[in-house]
Amino acid sequence: MTHTRTARPRRSCLAVPGSNPRFIEKAQGLPVDQVFLDLEDACAPLAKEGARLTIVNALNEGDWGDRLRVVRVNDWTTHWTYRDVVTVVEGAGPNLDCVMLPKVQDATQIRALDLLLTQIEKTMGFEVGRIGIEAQIENARGLINVDEIAAASPRLETIIFGPADFMASINMKSLVVGEQPPGYDTGDAYHYILMRLLMAARANDLQVIDGPYLQIRDLDGYRRVAGRSAALGFDGKWVLHPGQVEVANEVYSPGQQDYDHAELILDAYAWHTSEAGGAKGAAMLGDEMIDEASRKMALVVAGKGRAAGMRRTTTFEPPQEG
Ligand code: GLV
Ligand code: MG
Repeated sequence: MTHTRTARPRRSCLAVPGSNPRFIEKAQGLPVDQVFLDLEDACAPLAKEGARLTIVNALNEGDWGDRLRVVRVNDWTTHWTYRDVVTVVEGAGPNLDCVMLPKVQDATQIRALDLLLTQIEKTMGFEVGRIGIEAQIENARGLINVDEIAAASPRLETIIFGPADFMASINMKSLVVGEQPPGYDTGDAYHYILMRLLMAARANDLQVIDGPYLQIRDLDGYRRVAGRSAALGFDGKWVLHPGQVEVANEVYSPGQQDYDHAELILDAYAWHTSEAGGAKGAAMLGDEMIDEASRKMALVVAGKGRAAGMRRTTTFEPPQEG
Protein backbone atom coordinates (compact mmCIF):
# COMPACT_ATOMS: atom_id res chain seq x y z
CA MET A 1 0.00 0.00 0.00
CA THR A 2 2.70 2.46 1.03
CA HIS A 3 4.71 1.56 -2.01
CA THR A 4 2.00 2.32 -4.57
CA ARG A 5 1.13 5.50 -2.70
CA THR A 6 4.64 6.90 -2.76
CA ALA A 7 5.40 5.82 -6.32
CA ARG A 8 3.12 8.52 -7.72
CA PRO A 9 5.14 11.38 -9.17
CA ARG A 10 4.71 14.80 -7.58
CA ARG A 11 7.33 16.92 -9.34
CA SER A 12 4.89 19.79 -9.86
CA CYS A 13 2.06 20.38 -7.37
CA LEU A 14 -0.27 23.13 -8.58
CA ALA A 15 -2.06 25.32 -6.05
CA VAL A 16 -5.55 26.38 -7.17
CA PRO A 17 -7.96 28.48 -5.09
CA GLY A 18 -11.06 26.33 -4.52
CA SER A 19 -13.27 29.37 -4.92
CA ASN A 20 -12.17 30.12 -8.49
CA PRO A 21 -13.91 27.98 -11.15
CA ARG A 22 -11.91 29.65 -13.95
CA PHE A 23 -8.56 28.64 -12.41
CA ILE A 24 -9.94 25.17 -11.65
CA GLU A 25 -10.89 24.77 -15.29
CA LYS A 26 -7.49 26.00 -16.46
CA ALA A 27 -5.66 23.60 -14.14
CA GLN A 28 -7.12 20.66 -16.07
CA GLY A 29 -5.05 21.63 -19.11
CA LEU A 30 -1.67 22.00 -17.38
CA PRO A 31 1.00 19.25 -17.41
CA VAL A 32 1.30 19.04 -13.61
CA ASP A 33 1.65 15.85 -11.56
CA GLN A 34 -0.69 17.04 -8.82
CA VAL A 35 -3.39 19.65 -8.46
CA PHE A 36 -4.60 20.77 -5.07
CA LEU A 37 -7.82 22.69 -4.73
CA ASP A 38 -7.43 25.03 -1.79
CA LEU A 39 -9.92 25.73 0.97
CA GLU A 40 -7.26 27.25 3.23
CA ASP A 41 -5.14 30.37 2.72
CA ALA A 42 -5.93 31.03 -0.96
CA CYS A 43 -9.63 30.98 -0.18
CA ALA A 44 -11.16 33.95 1.69
CA PRO A 45 -13.16 33.13 4.87
CA LEU A 46 -16.40 34.34 3.30
CA ALA A 47 -15.81 32.17 0.21
CA LYS A 48 -14.94 28.93 2.01
CA GLU A 49 -18.42 27.49 2.32
CA GLY A 50 -19.25 28.02 -1.35
CA ALA A 51 -15.83 26.75 -2.37
CA ARG A 52 -16.51 23.35 -0.77
CA LEU A 53 -19.33 22.80 -3.27
CA THR A 54 -17.34 24.23 -6.17
CA ILE A 55 -14.62 21.71 -5.35
CA VAL A 56 -17.03 18.76 -5.08
CA ASN A 57 -18.41 19.66 -8.46
CA ALA A 58 -14.97 20.12 -10.03
CA LEU A 59 -13.74 16.75 -8.73
CA ASN A 60 -16.82 14.92 -9.97
CA GLU A 61 -17.25 16.66 -13.30
CA GLY A 62 -13.71 17.73 -14.26
CA ASP A 63 -11.30 15.90 -16.55
CA TRP A 64 -8.21 15.48 -14.37
CA GLY A 65 -6.41 12.85 -16.47
CA ASP A 66 -3.47 11.29 -14.55
CA ARG A 67 -3.08 14.24 -12.22
CA LEU A 68 -3.31 13.52 -8.50
CA ARG A 69 -6.44 15.21 -7.16
CA VAL A 70 -5.92 16.75 -3.73
CA VAL A 71 -7.92 19.16 -1.58
CA ARG A 72 -6.31 21.32 1.07
CA VAL A 73 -8.66 21.70 4.03
CA ASN A 74 -8.31 24.23 6.84
CA ASP A 75 -6.15 23.32 9.84
CA TRP A 76 -7.54 21.87 13.08
CA THR A 77 -7.19 25.15 15.03
CA THR A 78 -10.00 26.67 12.92
CA HIS A 79 -13.69 25.72 13.06
CA TRP A 80 -13.79 24.77 9.37
CA THR A 81 -11.83 21.52 9.18
CA TYR A 82 -14.50 18.91 9.86
CA ARG A 83 -17.02 20.42 7.48
CA ASP A 84 -14.35 20.82 4.80
CA VAL A 85 -13.57 17.11 5.10
CA VAL A 86 -17.16 15.89 5.43
CA THR A 87 -18.50 17.95 2.54
CA VAL A 88 -15.65 17.24 0.14
CA VAL A 89 -15.15 13.55 0.92
CA GLU A 90 -18.83 12.65 1.13
CA GLY A 91 -19.47 14.60 -2.05
CA ALA A 92 -16.49 13.50 -4.14
CA GLY A 93 -14.55 10.82 -2.18
CA PRO A 94 -14.14 8.38 -5.12
CA ASN A 95 -12.68 11.22 -7.22
CA LEU A 96 -10.21 12.40 -4.60
CA ASP A 97 -6.70 11.02 -4.06
CA CYS A 98 -5.52 12.87 -0.95
CA VAL A 99 -6.52 15.40 1.66
CA MET A 100 -3.80 17.96 2.45
CA LEU A 101 -3.73 19.05 6.09
CA PRO A 102 -1.93 22.37 6.69
CA LYS A 103 -0.09 23.61 9.79
CA VAL A 104 0.22 20.13 11.29
CA GLN A 105 1.61 20.45 14.79
CA ASP A 106 1.59 16.91 16.16
CA ALA A 107 0.68 13.32 15.36
CA THR A 108 -2.79 13.54 16.96
CA GLN A 109 -3.86 15.96 14.22
CA ILE A 110 -3.05 13.34 11.59
CA ARG A 111 -4.80 10.60 13.55
CA ALA A 112 -7.90 12.76 13.93
CA LEU A 113 -8.08 13.24 10.17
CA ASP A 114 -7.44 9.53 9.58
CA LEU A 115 -10.34 8.59 11.91
CA LEU A 116 -12.69 11.09 10.30
CA LEU A 117 -11.83 9.80 6.82
CA THR A 118 -12.41 6.21 7.93
CA GLN A 119 -15.86 7.04 9.30
CA ILE A 120 -16.85 8.85 6.13
CA GLU A 121 -15.55 6.02 3.92
CA LYS A 122 -17.50 3.44 5.96
CA THR A 123 -20.69 5.49 6.01
CA MET A 124 -20.56 6.17 2.30
CA GLY A 125 -19.48 2.67 1.28
CA PHE A 126 -16.16 3.93 -0.14
CA GLU A 127 -13.00 1.80 -0.07
CA VAL A 128 -11.61 2.26 3.45
CA GLY A 129 -8.09 3.69 3.58
CA ARG A 130 -7.78 4.65 -0.08
CA ILE A 131 -7.71 8.41 0.42
CA GLY A 132 -4.23 9.55 1.41
CA ILE A 133 -3.02 12.39 3.63
CA GLU A 134 -0.44 15.05 2.80
CA ALA A 135 0.94 16.85 5.88
CA GLN A 136 2.21 20.40 5.66
CA ILE A 137 4.87 21.36 8.19
CA GLU A 138 4.65 25.12 8.62
CA ASN A 139 5.65 26.01 12.13
CA ALA A 140 8.24 25.32 14.80
CA ARG A 141 6.02 22.88 16.71
CA GLY A 142 5.32 20.88 13.57
CA LEU A 143 9.01 20.63 12.78
CA ILE A 144 9.91 19.53 16.28
CA ASN A 145 7.27 16.77 16.08
CA VAL A 146 7.83 15.80 12.47
CA ASP A 147 9.20 12.32 13.25
CA GLU A 148 5.98 11.28 15.01
CA ILE A 149 3.85 13.12 12.45
CA ALA A 150 5.49 11.21 9.58
CA ALA A 151 4.74 7.89 11.32
CA ALA A 152 1.19 8.74 12.43
CA SER A 153 -0.92 7.02 9.75
CA PRO A 154 -0.63 4.55 6.87
CA ARG A 155 -2.59 7.10 4.84
CA LEU A 156 0.34 9.54 4.83
CA GLU A 157 1.93 10.01 1.43
CA THR A 158 3.97 13.18 1.73
CA ILE A 159 5.46 15.72 4.06
CA ILE A 160 5.30 19.24 2.60
CA PHE A 161 7.33 22.29 3.59
CA GLY A 162 5.24 25.46 4.02
CA PRO A 163 7.91 28.17 3.86
CA ALA A 164 5.67 31.24 4.08
CA ASP A 165 3.91 30.25 7.29
CA PHE A 166 7.14 28.76 8.59
CA MET A 167 9.07 32.00 8.14
CA ALA A 168 6.32 33.82 10.04
CA SER A 169 6.28 31.14 12.75
CA ILE A 170 9.98 31.48 13.54
CA ASN A 171 10.10 35.29 13.05
CA MET A 172 12.53 35.03 10.17
CA LYS A 173 13.67 38.50 9.15
CA SER A 174 12.53 38.37 5.54
CA LEU A 175 9.41 38.68 3.45
CA VAL A 176 10.71 36.93 0.34
CA VAL A 177 9.63 33.30 0.58
CA GLY A 178 12.34 30.78 -0.17
CA GLU A 179 15.14 33.30 -0.64
CA GLN A 180 17.91 33.75 1.93
CA PRO A 181 17.05 36.32 4.61
CA PRO A 182 19.11 39.51 4.23
CA GLY A 183 22.03 39.46 6.66
CA TYR A 184 22.43 35.68 6.54
CA ASP A 185 25.62 35.66 4.58
CA THR A 186 26.65 32.05 4.91
CA GLY A 187 25.17 28.72 3.83
CA ASP A 188 21.46 28.11 3.33
CA ALA A 189 19.11 29.38 6.05
CA TYR A 190 16.63 26.57 5.16
CA HIS A 191 19.07 23.69 5.18
CA TYR A 192 18.21 22.41 8.64
CA ILE A 193 14.48 22.50 7.97
CA LEU A 194 14.75 20.80 4.58
CA MET A 195 17.01 18.07 5.94
CA ARG A 196 14.81 17.50 8.98
CA LEU A 197 11.75 17.03 6.75
CA LEU A 198 13.66 14.81 4.34
CA MET A 199 14.88 12.50 7.14
CA ALA A 200 11.43 12.17 8.71
CA ALA A 201 9.85 11.46 5.34
CA ARG A 202 12.41 8.94 4.10
CA ALA A 203 12.52 7.13 7.45
CA ASN A 204 8.82 6.43 6.88
CA ASP A 205 8.90 5.80 3.10
CA LEU A 206 7.11 9.05 2.34
CA GLN A 207 7.63 11.62 -0.36
CA VAL A 208 8.76 15.12 0.57
CA ILE A 209 7.69 18.23 -1.28
CA ASP A 210 9.05 21.78 -1.29
CA GLY A 211 6.57 24.65 -0.93
CA PRO A 212 5.72 27.76 -2.92
CA TYR A 213 7.95 30.42 -4.48
CA LEU A 214 5.92 33.59 -4.59
CA GLN A 215 7.91 35.70 -7.09
CA ILE A 216 6.04 34.02 -9.93
CA ARG A 217 7.72 35.98 -12.73
CA ASP A 218 11.25 35.17 -11.52
CA LEU A 219 11.75 31.76 -13.13
CA ASP A 220 15.51 31.85 -12.53
CA GLY A 221 14.82 32.34 -8.83
CA TYR A 222 12.33 29.46 -8.89
CA ARG A 223 14.87 27.22 -10.62
CA ARG A 224 17.58 28.13 -8.12
CA VAL A 225 15.43 27.45 -5.05
CA ALA A 226 13.92 24.27 -6.54
CA GLY A 227 17.40 23.09 -7.50
CA ARG A 228 18.48 23.17 -3.85
CA SER A 229 15.74 20.93 -2.52
CA ALA A 230 15.92 18.69 -5.61
CA ALA A 231 19.66 18.24 -5.01
CA LEU A 232 18.98 17.06 -1.46
CA GLY A 233 16.41 14.51 -2.70
CA PHE A 234 13.04 16.29 -2.56
CA ASP A 235 10.44 14.85 -4.93
CA GLY A 236 8.78 18.05 -6.13
CA LYS A 237 7.67 21.58 -5.43
CA TRP A 238 4.54 23.66 -5.48
CA VAL A 239 3.74 25.68 -8.57
CA LEU A 240 1.55 28.75 -8.32
CA HIS A 241 1.60 29.77 -11.96
CA PRO A 242 1.70 27.95 -15.32
CA GLY A 243 5.17 29.43 -15.99
CA GLN A 244 6.66 27.47 -13.07
CA VAL A 245 5.33 24.08 -14.23
CA GLU A 246 7.91 23.22 -16.86
CA VAL A 247 10.78 24.21 -14.57
CA ALA A 248 9.47 22.02 -11.74
CA ASN A 249 8.97 19.01 -14.01
CA GLU A 250 12.49 19.40 -15.31
CA VAL A 251 14.28 20.14 -12.04
CA TYR A 252 12.72 17.20 -10.16
CA SER A 253 13.24 14.68 -12.98
CA PRO A 254 16.67 13.15 -13.49
CA GLY A 255 18.63 14.43 -16.49
CA GLN A 256 18.59 12.07 -19.51
CA GLN A 257 22.25 11.15 -18.98
CA ASP A 258 21.72 10.32 -15.30
CA TYR A 259 18.60 8.33 -16.12
CA ASP A 260 20.41 6.31 -18.81
CA HIS A 261 23.33 5.75 -16.48
CA ALA A 262 21.03 4.52 -13.70
CA GLU A 263 19.32 2.01 -16.01
CA LEU A 264 22.74 0.80 -17.19
CA ILE A 265 23.91 0.26 -13.62
CA LEU A 266 20.78 -1.77 -12.86
CA ASP A 267 21.21 -3.97 -15.93
CA ALA A 268 24.96 -4.36 -15.47
CA TYR A 269 24.65 -5.22 -11.80
CA ALA A 270 21.86 -7.72 -12.48
CA TRP A 271 24.06 -9.43 -15.08
CA HIS A 272 27.27 -9.45 -13.01
CA THR A 273 25.50 -10.89 -9.97
CA SER A 274 23.83 -13.62 -12.10
CA GLU A 275 25.25 -17.06 -12.89
CA ALA A 276 26.07 -15.95 -16.45
CA GLY A 277 27.94 -12.92 -15.18
CA GLY A 278 29.98 -14.88 -12.64
CA ALA A 279 27.82 -14.19 -9.54
CA LYS A 280 30.04 -11.25 -8.52
CA GLY A 281 29.13 -8.79 -5.74
CA ALA A 282 31.19 -5.94 -7.16
CA ALA A 283 31.97 -5.40 -10.81
CA MET A 284 33.12 -2.83 -13.32
CA LEU A 285 30.84 -0.76 -15.53
CA GLY A 286 33.28 1.06 -17.80
CA ASP A 287 35.65 2.83 -15.41
CA GLU A 288 33.28 2.68 -12.49
CA MET A 289 33.07 0.06 -9.76
CA ILE A 290 29.49 -0.85 -8.91
CA ASP A 291 28.07 -2.85 -6.03
CA GLU A 292 24.83 -3.26 -4.09
CA ALA A 293 24.91 0.36 -2.86
CA SER A 294 25.30 1.55 -6.46
CA ARG A 295 22.21 -0.48 -7.33
CA LYS A 296 20.22 1.23 -4.57
CA MET A 297 21.25 4.70 -5.74
CA ALA A 298 20.49 3.77 -9.34
CA LEU A 299 17.06 2.49 -8.32
CA VAL A 300 16.16 5.94 -6.95
CA VAL A 301 17.17 7.78 -10.12
CA ALA A 302 15.67 5.14 -12.43
CA GLY A 303 12.48 5.12 -10.34
CA LYS A 304 12.09 8.88 -10.67
CA GLY A 305 12.81 8.74 -14.40
CA ARG A 306 10.36 5.89 -15.01
CA ALA A 307 7.69 7.64 -12.95
CA ALA A 308 8.25 10.73 -15.08
CA GLY A 309 7.74 8.66 -18.24
CA MET A 310 11.38 8.95 -19.43
CA ARG A 311 12.76 6.57 -22.09
CA ARG A 312 16.28 5.19 -21.96
CA THR A 313 18.52 5.88 -24.92
CA THR A 314 21.18 3.21 -24.25
CA THR A 315 21.23 -0.55 -23.63
CA PHE A 316 23.56 -2.76 -21.63
CA GLU A 317 25.81 -5.18 -23.54
CA PRO A 318 27.42 -7.91 -21.42
CA PRO A 319 31.22 -7.78 -21.86
CA GLN A 320 32.64 -10.32 -24.36
CA GLU A 321 34.68 -13.14 -22.84
CA GLY A 322 38.30 -12.33 -23.55
C1 GLV B 1 2.33 27.29 2.25
O1 GLV B 1 1.27 26.95 2.68
C2 GLV B 1 3.24 28.17 2.94
O2 GLV B 1 2.83 28.64 4.02
O3 GLV B 1 4.34 28.40 2.44
MG1 MG C 1 0.87 27.89 4.59
